[in-house]
Amino acid sequence: MNEMSLPRPNNLDSFWMPYSDNRYFKQNPRMLARAEGMSYYTPEGREVLDGTAGLWCCNAGHGRREIVEAIQKQAALMDFAPTFQLGHPIAFEAAARVAEMTPAGIDKVFFTNSGSESADTALKIALAYQKARGQSQRVRLIGRERGYHGVGFGGMSVGGIGGNRKQFGAMLPYVDHLPHTHDPKRNAFAKGQPEHGIELADRLEDLVALHGDTIAAVMVEPVAGSTGVLVPPTGYLQRLRELCDKHGILLIFDEVITGFGRLGTDFGAERLGVTPDIMTMAKGLTNAAVPMGAVATSNEVFDTVVNGSPAGIELFHGYTYSGHPLASAAAIATLALHREEDLPGRARAIEPYWQEAAHSLSSAPGVVDIRDFGLIAGIELAPREGKPGARAMDVFRKCFDDGVLIRVTGDIIALSPPLIVEKPHVDRIMGTLSDAIHAIA
Ligand SMILES: Cc1ncc(COP(=O)(O)O)c(C=O)c1O
Repeated sequence: MNEMSLPRPNNLDSFWMPYSDNRYFKQNPRMLARAEGMSYYTPEGREVLDGTAGLWCCNAGHGRREIVEAIQKQAALMDFAPTFQLGHPIAFEAAARVAEMTPAGIDKVFFTNSGSESADTALKIALAYQKARGQSQRVRLIGRERGYHGVGFGGMSVGGIGGNRKQFGAMLPYVDHLPHTHDPKRNAFAKGQPEHGIELADRLEDLVALHGDTIAAVMVEPVAGSTGVLVPPTGYLQRLRELCDKHGILLIFDEVITGFGRLGTDFGAERLGVTPDIMTMAKGLTNAAVPMGAVATSNEVFDTVVNGSPAGIELFHGYTYSGHPLASAAAIATLALHREEDLPGRARAIEPYWQEAAHSLSSAPGVVDIRDFGLIAGIELAPREGKPGARAMDVFRKCFDDGVLIRVTGDIIALSPPLIVEKPHVDRIMGTLSDAIHAIA
């Protein structure tokens, strides 16, 4: 493609950019205008290797022809149709494809448009389930410190990232939190799942002692991503599952980043050997080509809510775009690619190389911890005195200018390349990052 024909904005004023330093960006814009395979291209045509699959979402790589064509075909056939009291075939097919991939017994799929909507939908379904089974006192939702479940009021409240809450004051009532699992004293530089911390799941017993039988659900990310890659200690999620069962509490996994191959299996649940009652997903579901999220529930949850309701609408919840035809087309094509190219298998095959490459940065200046699991790595830097996040942001900017896209959260660098990544890409991502960390004091 002629790079001169790539779109360029004629002013940057109007777009209030999300989760961005708008004032800095508009003085120092860094633009992406095209994407293909493992790479983005700037409007000037400079290549930037994608070390983050966009935002943890383009697992099959960029510009995949099969997905593009499926969207084009569907747009020409039928642009939109409602799914309130009506249906279109492609939405049912997309749900069936998702249900084939989720763990056995998690067979019902509710469509949303994002991870945030999936989180809030899952919480509402959990409350509806408890009410439908005669436990309407169960109104309490338990999250985890440092958890991220998007930006809706439910996900924000159950989430545990202070910075995401401090501007907004009002939170959902009846929410409490488990402690996070980050324990650098015992687990620093652990490879894969850390050894220590299973007992942190027992803190759910303390919350049950405090709140009695008022807890509806616990929601956690199998691997906490946005907070800076916190891998669950060995046995921790199993213990959480046991305690939820013991106390009549639903377990929700937020699989928005761990779904669709990121951990070398279809979902994190499979890799970690724990089946939740409800799982949320988004991102990799459509390879991010069209926004779409989903909530998959156990048949027990669905049957209780649906069959326990009087005739008529069973769940007073839904989005205009639930099961949107273009998103459904993108999901079907993405999940077909996922299988044909065995993306989880590719992730599994390269994971040992990825792990070694990530941990090779352990002696770089200012690196205080490295964590990894599946095709994820978190590299934590010591913050600059009085300026948290500034050091990692400088590393981010240098990497971008040197042709590699990384992601930073605070002073943690989070890497999550498309699952089609190959060894030379891994070498380039880690090499560029290492040079940047060395260059930035
Ligand atoms: C675990 C998790 N849940 C929810 C979300 C929110 O997704 P979205 O930005 O699509 O609303 C994210 C986004 O990164 C996420 O990582």
